[in-house]
Amino acid sequence: MIKIAIFASGSGSNAENIAKYFSNKQEVEITTIISDKADAFVHQRAKHLGIESITFSKKQFTETGEVTNFLSERQIDFVVLAGFLLKVPDNLIENYPNRIINIHPALLPKFGGKGMYGDHVHEAVVAAKEKESGITIHYINENYDEGNVIFQATCDVGLADTAHEVAQKVHALEYKYFPIIIEKVISALPDSVSLGKVKG
Ligand code: GAR
Repeated sequence: MIKIAIFASGSGSNAENIAKYFSNKQEVEITTIISDKADAFVHQRAKHLGIESITFSKKQFTETGEVTNFLSERQIDFVVLAGFLLKVPDNLIENYPNRIINIHPALLPKFGGKGMYGDHVHEAVVAAKEKESGITIHYINENYDEGNVIFQATCDVGLADTAHEVAQKVHALEYKYFPIIIEKVISALPDSVSLGKVKG
């Protein structure tokens, strides 16, 4: 049994989609959802899904080992960042080598780094008149959005597309691919994997 913790800072639609995907799979358990925001909508989703959710403050995340200790007490094997906006602390990365993955709503290395999250990313893609965008699923290292890429999927961006329309296309890719890529990565543990790039 692989125990997964999902970290999410906001709405949590990806967290919910992942939890539903794994709900009927015996070999994987979404054990807990962790947020840095007590009022994030993801807590309500967790409640409906019957999954424990807990908040750690930014200070607890960045200045203490409390989150790492909590994960180890819960015997968590793998961490999924799904719309989580804080930088992952080094002590957590050291304890979970190749066991923390993130989804980014663009084709890294473009449109990544500090401040590039959610709608800011899609606005930047539209402003740059990009012809395509997509998703990047990658391992976490000590720098924002720079860990090894596992998988990318692309979508077209039309000249008339708004940031909102791009966001919808990207969300569709996230819902389609994130759960199955998580499943592939955990089935290959403890090795790291690279699964390539597809046109969504
Ligand atoms: C998702 O689009 C995810 O890719 C993005 O935040 C959104 C969260 O949506 N993550 C980042 O921007 C990280 N840099 P959700 O809360 O509905 O899953």
